[in-house]
Amino acid sequence: MKIRPAITTISLCLVALLLCSIVVDLSAAEQPALIPQPEKIQTTPGQFLIQPQTKILLFPANDQTRDLADYFVETVSPAMGFVLTVAPFAEETELENCIIFKINPNLNLSDQGYQLNIIPKKITLEATSSTGLFYGVQTLRQLLPASVESDVPVAGEKWSLPCLKITDQPRFTWRGVMLDESRHFFGKRTVKKILERMALHKMNRFHWHLTDEPAWRIEIKQYPLLTEIGSKGSWSNPADPPKFYTQADIKEIVTFAARRHIIVIPEIDMPGHATAANRAYPEHSGGGSEKLPDFTFNPGREQTYQYLENILDETAKLFPGPWIHFGGDEVHFGNEQWKTNPDVIKKLKLEGLATILDMEHYFNRRMAATIQKLGKTTIGWDEITDTGIPPQQAIIMWWRHDKPQQLKKALQNGFQVILCPRIPCYFDFVQHNSHQHGRRWQGKFCPLELTYAYPDPLDKFPPEQRPLIIGIQANVWTERIHNDSRLDFMIYPRLSAIAEACWSKPEQKDFNDFRTRLPKMLNRHRILGDYYFDPFNPEQSPEPAGPQRKN
Ligand code: ACM
Repeated sequence: MKIRPAITTISLCLVALLLCSIVVDLSAAEQPALIPQPEKIQTTPGQFLIQPQTKILLFPANDQTRDLADYFVETVSPAMGFVLTVAPFAEETELENCIIFKINPNLNLSDQGYQLNIIPKKITLEATSSTGLFYGVQTLRQLLPASVESDVPVAGEKWSLPCLKITDQPRFTWRGVMLDESRHFFGKRTVKKILERMALHKMNRFHWHLTDEPAWRIEIKQYPLLTEIGSKGSWSNPADPPKFYTQADIKEIVTFAARRHIIVIPEIDMPGHATAANRAYPEHSGGGSEKLPDFTFNPGREQTYQYLENILDETAKLFPGPWIHFGGDEVHFGNEQWKTNPDVIKKLKLEGLATILDMEHYFNRRMAATIQKLGKTTIGWDEITDTGIPPQQAIIMWWRHDKPQQLKKALQNGFQVILCPRIPCYFDFVQHNSHQHGRRWQGKFCPLELTYAYPDPLDKFPPEQRPLIIGIQANVWTERIHNDSRLDFMIYPRLSAIAEACWSKPEQKDFNDFRTRLPKMLNRHRILGDYYFDPFNPEQSPEPAGPQRKN
């Protein structure tokens, strides 16, 4: 009788020890290969197996959770060869072999966070919003074998997920990719593919650079010549046939992105980089310079402000997101003729302005006010920091890595800032020293590890300024990118690196660990048919040649 309590104590200790040994934080070698790395993972033994009879249960069952379940089913069914049933969650539901998607307003997580609990009997995915659930769905997708990306049934594959508990939420709210389609046009299929890869990586902002010198790519119904004339040509060849997005195409892309919790931000570049528009409507040209003729809109003419407002008004109606990007970059490259333009001279006098730089700033302030009037917030390149736009009226994209003082000034003045310095965020720069067909800056380029490490450590900024940094963005300029294989090659796998830089806290970032998780993502790209650069075998992924320019 006496020894019974001792035995009980010993057995309790053993049970506790056993539990301790099976609920452990995973070491790097055992971690599931997730990108971006979640905030917290704990694993337990066992696995959950998705089978034809597995049910997805929704709590609550509404349009958002149903659409999310449909998205998951559409993503995994082709490879699995069966279609999972979706049903509302009910208390009496048999909780065996089910995946529960649950909106839970009481979770202590940001609105983009989620909690995932996988045990052999069931998977529970919870979030305070459908956006959080969407990111949990991407984690589920990444926990499945890479072959789940196949578009045909994969015979003999076991659709198992390891048992674990994940709590996750992003570091930055802005996790962006910019695509320049003025220099080269890629079309809806390619844009959708990029959006889908962004979704896989939990990226959430697609900045669409639609107008610039070579071509204008967005249909504006009030000004049909913008696309009839302005969409002809590309960086490679001014004689290329017209290519642009109709308003119906744009709505299709915006809807496709929204389903993936991505907001699309259009950029209508002004007052510089306006050459294509000026081919269509020369009366609004403010001239240029010898090297860059007709580079600008005319900031001296009231009719030009009205014209631009009309363009922005149609644009604002096409993009339901809260932002419009109006460029504002590199005006000094081609505004020499403003000095002699009679409209500009008159306007300077009328407004009591002294220089053409004052004219540029006046133009920017007016356009930011116009965008505000249209119910949107302005985004602009870092040049607009100097123009006197109130900080609550605009967000700054800091791109000139050689001008850190511009970032400092934006933060000191209280602007929200998105970080996208050329190095390491411009994906038209080469990513490996052996590569020949992309940009470099004084010999420097954008290898994977540099993109990954960005922007840490942030302690170079005073603590009160750090919350103004709302995120990071990869910018894909396309002077040197003219086809899909080059586009893929420049984006993947740097998208994985920037996604983790955007999402994971500095404590979770570890480049060596990232390298151990990357091969599974590369395998996913291979199955999806993407032409990625393989940093582990550079010679096995030859660099596609860049475009030849015809003038
Ligand atoms: C830029 O690269 N001109 C923003």
